[in-house]
Amino acid sequence: MDYQLDLDWPDFLQRYWQKRPVVLKRGFKHFVDPISPDELAGLAMEPEVDSRLVSHQNGKWQVSHGPFESYDHLGESNWSLLVQAVDHWHEASAALMRPFRFLPDWRIDDLMISFSVPGGGVGPHFDQYDVFIIQGTGRRRWRVGDKVPMKQHCPHPDLLQVEPFDAIIDEEMEPGDILYIPPGFPHEGYSLENAVNYSVGFRAPSGRELISGFADYVLAHELGSHRFSDPAVQGRDCPATILPQEIAGIRQMMLDVINQPDHFEQWFGEFISQSRHELDIAPPEPPYQPDEIYDALQQGDTLTRLGGLRVLRIGDTVFVNGEQIESVHQQALNSLAHHSVVRQEDFADALDDPSFLAQLAALVNSGYWFFGDE
Ligand code: SIN
Ligand code: CO
Repeated sequence: MDYQLDLDWPDFLQRYWQKRPVVLKRGFKHFVDPISPDELAGLAMEPEVDSRLVSHQNGKWQVSHGPFESYDHLGESNWSLLVQAVDHWHEASAALMRPFRFLPDWRIDDLMISFSVPGGGVGPHFDQYDVFIIQGTGRRRWRVGDKVPMKQHCPHPDLLQVEPFDAIIDEEMEPGDILYIPPGFPHEGYSLENAVNYSVGFRAPSGRELISGFADYVLAHELGSHRFSDPAVQGRDCPATILPQEIAGIRQMMLDVINQPDHFEQWFGEFISQSRHELDIAPPEPPYQPDEIYDALQQGDTLTRLGGLRVLRIGDTVFVNGEQIESVHQQALNSLAHHSVVRQEDFADALDDPSFLAQLAALVNSGYWFFGDE
């Protein structure tokens, strides 16, 4: 299914992106759910899939984590099943993220899908990331409040909520409606009937994650071996004192480690092209020989990218799931980065180069691309 999003992107970016929430009425016209509630419930029974059940009764909240063995104990109201990164496990659902690729791939995270019965929801809360919440089957009332400093509390150890808030958006969403919420705006979805919601979530690294990720790279590549030196060390009244210029020197030393553009780019490409959620990797058995890949593509077979695999470009370098891919065949690399399905003509003459064909075979044999349509 090819989802067509009816949105004026430049206008949306200027007025709403990271600024304020908005309902995009009928963002998807004639919306058809890519997955059924039964299929979603089935996914939440798989051990690799990250899922939770949230319920409440008389103001008391309960959270349990998948994999689930049965749903028999659930009543007809006040619960919601939430499944993370469904795009990694369900190709048809992954198609729902593609219309959002006006925004850069590196900022997009995953597709979370929820199924709620009447009264179901996770309660009032805010998130750290931008999200587009698409209404699928059913109607759900969504309320969004203004971004003001708010105290968070935990009605259950696994649930972070905020106090009730005044709504700046209060809308009963219908299939195909989209609610965009920037980080920090409190919101709550309250189901009026059985309802499915699709959340296209974004990713925004924190300074802490960046420093920690860069530190790992520095260690792995044995960078930063240069030591502090002070040929012009100064005396001081009290030997216990560290002088401001010494602090400045230390700070500069650390900045110098970061300030190596080639390493910095390579680190960031590796770092940001890693998925935050498990991938459904199933390497082909037996592995393909490069000439088999060549023949299949010549015959018109297509290669499909594994759902959730991150393929990103910095300049002429492409990063796939944390690894740098180098090649002189820029057009072929660009095709791999740009399209979720690639075919022979996307590779131009790169397929005639045995070294490129070997790289492509390695990617297929890693389970990152597979033959067949979605
Ligand atoms: C949902 O219940 O579908 C979305 C939960 C959220 O607001 O993050
Ligand atoms: Co939320």
